Amino acid sequence: LSSTEVDLSKIAEGQGITVMWRGKPVFVRHRTEKEIKEAEEAPLSEMRDPATDASRVKEGKKQWLVMVGVCTHLGCIPLGQQGDYDGWFCPCHGSHYDSSGRIRKGPAPLNLAIPEYQFLSDTKIKIG
Ligand code: FES
Repeated sequence: LSSTEVDLSKIAEGQGITVMWRGKPVFVRHRTEKEIKEAEEAPLSEMRDPATDASRVKEGKKQWLVMVGVCTHLGCIPLGQQGDYDGWFCPCHGSHYDSSGRIRKGPAPLNLAIPEYQFLSDTKIKIG
Protein backbone atom coordinates (compact mmCIF):
# COMPACT_ATOMS: atom_id res chain seq x y z
CA LEU A 1 0.00 0.00 0.00
CA SER A 2 1.37 3.41 -0.88
CA SER A 3 -0.84 5.25 1.58
CA THR A 4 -2.26 4.46 5.01
CA GLU A 5 -5.28 5.97 6.71
CA VAL A 6 -5.24 6.43 10.47
CA ASP A 7 -8.28 6.95 12.71
CA LEU A 8 -7.26 9.51 15.32
CA SER A 9 -10.44 9.31 17.39
CA LYS A 10 -9.12 6.49 19.60
CA ILE A 11 -5.80 8.11 20.45
CA ALA A 12 -6.24 9.89 23.76
CA GLU A 13 -4.29 13.03 24.61
CA GLY A 14 -0.86 12.00 25.84
CA GLN A 15 -0.91 8.75 23.89
CA GLY A 16 0.62 7.66 20.65
CA ILE A 17 0.37 4.77 18.26
CA THR A 18 2.68 3.26 15.68
CA VAL A 19 1.39 2.33 12.26
CA MET A 20 3.26 0.80 9.36
CA TRP A 21 3.66 2.77 6.16
CA ARG A 22 5.78 1.60 3.23
CA GLY A 23 7.47 -0.90 5.54
CA LYS A 24 8.43 1.70 8.11
CA PRO A 25 6.96 2.53 11.50
CA VAL A 26 5.20 5.87 11.68
CA PHE A 27 4.51 7.44 15.06
CA VAL A 28 1.21 9.28 15.50
CA ARG A 29 1.22 11.15 18.78
CA HIS A 30 -1.57 13.15 20.41
CA ARG A 31 0.45 15.74 22.28
CA THR A 32 -0.51 17.31 25.57
CA GLU A 33 -0.59 21.07 26.11
CA LYS A 34 2.61 20.74 28.13
CA GLU A 35 4.40 18.84 25.36
CA ILE A 36 3.30 21.41 22.77
CA LYS A 37 4.41 24.31 24.95
CA GLU A 38 7.82 22.73 25.56
CA ALA A 39 8.22 22.11 21.84
CA GLU A 40 7.29 25.69 20.96
CA GLU A 41 9.51 27.26 23.58
CA ALA A 42 12.64 25.17 23.02
CA PRO A 43 15.49 27.42 21.80
CA LEU A 44 16.47 26.73 18.21
CA SER A 45 20.03 27.83 19.02
CA GLU A 46 20.46 24.67 21.11
CA MET A 47 19.41 22.35 18.31
CA ARG A 48 21.58 20.34 15.99
CA ASP A 49 18.92 20.35 13.27
CA PRO A 50 16.99 23.54 14.04
CA ALA A 51 13.31 23.52 13.08
CA THR A 52 10.36 25.34 14.57
CA ASP A 53 7.62 23.23 16.07
CA ALA A 54 5.17 24.91 13.69
CA SER A 55 7.12 23.60 10.72
CA ARG A 56 6.62 20.02 11.93
CA VAL A 57 2.85 20.00 12.38
CA LYS A 58 -0.17 21.08 10.33
CA GLU A 59 -1.67 24.48 10.99
CA GLY A 60 -4.52 24.29 13.48
CA LYS A 61 -3.64 20.68 14.34
CA LYS A 62 -0.60 21.11 16.47
CA GLN A 63 -1.70 18.48 18.95
CA TRP A 64 -0.91 15.86 16.28
CA LEU A 65 2.66 14.90 15.54
CA VAL A 66 3.24 12.40 12.73
CA MET A 67 6.78 11.15 12.14
CA VAL A 68 8.72 8.31 10.60
CA GLY A 69 9.79 6.24 13.62
CA VAL A 70 13.31 5.52 12.47
CA CYS A 71 16.29 6.97 14.32
CA THR A 72 18.37 9.13 12.01
CA HIS A 73 21.58 7.69 13.45
CA LEU A 74 21.58 4.05 12.39
CA GLY A 75 17.92 3.23 12.01
CA CYS A 76 16.71 1.80 15.32
CA ILE A 77 13.16 2.49 16.46
CA PRO A 78 13.08 5.09 19.26
CA LEU A 79 10.88 4.57 22.31
CA GLY A 80 8.06 7.01 22.99
CA GLN A 81 7.58 9.14 26.09
CA GLN A 82 11.15 8.60 27.15
CA GLY A 83 14.37 10.55 27.18
CA ASP A 84 15.25 13.92 28.61
CA TYR A 85 12.88 16.03 26.49
CA ASP A 86 9.43 14.43 26.90
CA GLY A 87 9.76 12.91 23.48
CA TRP A 88 11.54 9.81 22.25
CA PHE A 89 14.68 7.98 23.24
CA CYS A 90 16.69 5.68 21.01
CA PRO A 91 18.19 2.92 23.16
CA CYS A 92 20.69 1.78 20.55
CA HIS A 93 23.19 4.59 21.15
CA GLY A 94 21.31 7.07 23.30
CA SER A 95 19.73 9.72 21.08
CA HIS A 96 17.13 11.96 22.74
CA TYR A 97 14.38 13.52 20.60
CA ASP A 98 12.06 16.17 21.99
CA SER A 99 8.27 16.44 21.92
CA SER A 100 8.52 17.74 18.37
CA GLY A 101 10.78 14.82 17.34
CA ARG A 102 13.84 17.04 17.01
CA ILE A 103 17.23 15.65 17.90
CA ARG A 104 18.45 17.24 21.11
CA LYS A 105 21.16 14.95 22.49
CA GLY A 106 23.10 11.88 21.38
CA PRO A 107 24.65 10.82 18.08
CA ALA A 108 21.72 11.15 15.67
CA PRO A 109 22.37 13.92 13.11
CA LEU A 110 18.82 14.85 12.12
CA ASN A 111 15.30 15.23 13.46
CA LEU A 112 12.85 12.38 13.00
CA ALA A 113 11.44 12.74 9.49
CA ILE A 114 7.93 13.98 8.80
CA PRO A 115 6.20 11.91 6.13
CA GLU A 116 3.84 13.36 3.59
CA TYR A 117 0.34 13.27 5.10
CA GLN A 118 -2.93 15.15 5.13
CA PHE A 119 -6.04 15.46 7.25
CA LEU A 120 -9.09 13.91 5.60
CA SER A 121 -11.23 15.11 8.52
CA ASP A 122 -10.62 16.19 12.11
CA THR A 123 -10.25 12.56 13.11
CA LYS A 124 -8.62 10.95 10.11
CA ILE A 125 -5.30 11.35 8.35
CA LYS A 126 -3.88 9.81 5.23
CA ILE A 127 -0.15 9.15 5.24
CA GLY A 128 1.50 9.07 1.82
FE1 FES B 1 19.45 5.55 17.35
FE2 FES B 1 22.07 5.01 17.11
S1 FES B 1 20.42 4.15 15.98
S2 FES B 1 21.11 6.33 18.50
